[in-house]
Amino acid sequence: MDYIKEFEELLSNSTKEANEASTLEELANVRIKYLSKKGLISVMINKIREVEDKKAFGEAFKNCKDSLEAILNSKQEVFQKAKINEELLKEKIDITLNGRDFHEGNINPFFKIIREIEDIFIGMGYTIEDGPEVEKDHYNFELLNIPSDHPARDMQDSFYIDETTLLRTHTSPVQARVMEKNQNKPVKIICPGKVFRRDDDDMTHSHQFAQVEGLVIDKNINMGNLKATLELFVKKMFGEKREIRLRSSYFPFTEPSVEVDISCMNCNGKGCSMCKGTGWIEILGAGMVNPKVLEMSGYDSNVYSGFAFGIGIERVAMLRYGIDDIRRFYQNDIRFLNSFVKKVED
Ligand code: PHE
Repeated sequence: MDYIKEFEELLSNSTKEANEASTLEELANVRIKYLSKKGLISVMINKIREVEDKKAFGEAFKNCKDSLEAILNSKQEVFQKAKINEELLKEKIDITLNGRDFHEGNINPFFKIIREIEDIFIGMGYTIEDGPEVEKDHYNFELLNIPSDHPARDMQDSFYIDETTLLRTHTSPVQARVMEKNQNKPVKIICPGKVFRRDDDDMTHSHQFAQVEGLVIDKNINMGNLKATLELFVKKMFGEKREIRLRSSYFPFTEPSVEVDISCMNCNGKGCSMCKGTGWIEILGAGMVNPKVLEMSGYDSNVYSGFAFGIGIERVAMLRYGIDDIRRFYQNDIRFLNSFVKKVED
């Protein structure tokens, strides 16, 4: 039998198929077809029994096998390289592209004002306190001398959670909490925080807004101390030229009580549309702590006296930055926030 011819034929067929293979998979199939255990070339070895010149047959077999293997290996290498190149090309990072703009965040005007207020009072020796926003009736009203039938409750229409729990309507409950904690010791604190009232939202009202409560208790605290403190605060916040004016008012937890106005920064007290022609703008409520409130929280009102104030934070921010609508603080409109940043940096 002319095995030489058979080997030539096998090699030429398999080479042709290898050359036609266009993927790694097709190439692998050619290898399986001819060189696997039962492959067309591999099984030829069985014919060695039938030939006389086993050495020559062995050489021819080996030649055929090695030749095909070499072709398959070199082609496989070419395919693998091409595949790697293709992947590299896909994963290529174009370092010449421009980077994305980095948007730097800024502090919201509302929080900027809170920080400024805190700085001013820390400078005067105050510490900062915190209190719960979901508050007990007991702290929000009772301990502040506002019993359940008191008409002042109507002034602060509330969100109740159950019969004795509500969203605090002012930061004043922190007064009661701090007094309870300090028990007949001096107090000098401010407490900034959110408060909630059932108001219809408009340009100057929001069902949620923020106040800073202030409370000072010690021996010999008087109205002069209150006035000096507020004057200092107003000048630091709105400028040295600002004057303050105290108007008699009423809060159940302070006696006497005052509303505090500042001279209008727009017209310097002459009268304009911003101050409705009066020359003055109201910014906060304050007063001497009602002795009844001191007593309820365990202070001896014959020994201690104190003053308290409540500042509307948005109101201060609106006046300071000329913002016309309280709702802007809560809308997160990026145009508003950006324009504000420029204004402050100027
Ligand atoms: N708690 C009062 C309010 O929200 C403000 C205030 C605080 C008045 C402290 C006097 C003293 O209306």
